[in-house]
Amino acid sequence: MELNSLDKARLPQHVAIIMDGNGRWATLRGKSRIEGHRRGKTSVRVIVEMSRKLGVRYLSLYAFSTENWFRPHDEVDALMGLLEQYLAGERAKMMRYGIRLVSIGDRSRLPLSVKAALEETIELTRANQRMTVVLALSYSGRDEIVRMARRLAREARDRRLDPDEIDERMVASHLDSGEIPDPDLLIRTSGEMRVSNFLLWQIAYSELYFTKTLWPDFRRRDLMLALLDYQRRERRFGRTGEQLQGSTG
Ligand code: FPP
Repeated sequence: MELNSLDKARLPQHVAIIMDGNGRWATLRGKSRIEGHRRGKTSVRVIVEMSRKLGVRYLSLYAFSTENWFRPHDEVDALMGLLEQYLAGERAKMMRYGIRLVSIGDRSRLPLSVKAALEETIELTRANQRMTVVLALSYSGRDEIVRMARRLAREARDRRLDPDEIDERMVASHLDSGEIPDPDLLIRTSGEMRVSNFLLWQIAYSELYFTKTLWPDFRRRDLMLALLDYQRRERRFGRTGEQLQGSTG
């Protein structure tokens, strides 16, 4: 195994993950889907910890999409319960390791107790600097873009903004993700080759990595393989390979 060949100096600054396959993991084992989500929560803990150890600065996790509200009530309730448990249970560790938690998505749709646990964790960890975990909750990329458009339109209406001044930087800073840099690497588990409404604006130049591993089975080795794959790629941002060789990066 070539895991030792990971180059710590060329890690992606921002890794985003579409955590898929909890349901299939459970069904394959004759367990309830909720059991799959429970085990998926353990993968979240393992991957956050490993990313921190390696020195990944930003980790975005697609924990609950706007479409997920249409799942059966008991599954939605169980997911909300797991999120609340995660937030309460990991707070001390986040403080110990300098992890800042932020969220993207429409927080107003979350149950009050989850919203409270989320806001408490965000407030508590606000000044932490080692790593930022971005939880996407009640999130979809298109919904985020709609809410960004509303923010800009309100500012223009209130004459705080000239529409001709709107540029890519201004759009980016009015998204929920604000000043967070774009993901360098987007991982999706469970073999599906889709982006499913995650970070649509932000992944314009991200490297995409798909693995058949189901999220509850995604652990240290799988993250390593994704990072090694990323390091084998040449990121050109629309330029030629020769142009990049001539530059410092
Ligand atoms: C996809 O599996 C996963 C989700 C809908 C939610 C992700 C949630 C967790 C990992 C658990 C808790 C999260 C945190 C942050 C503690 P799926 O149910 O769509 O799987 P399937 O496609 O096999 O049915």
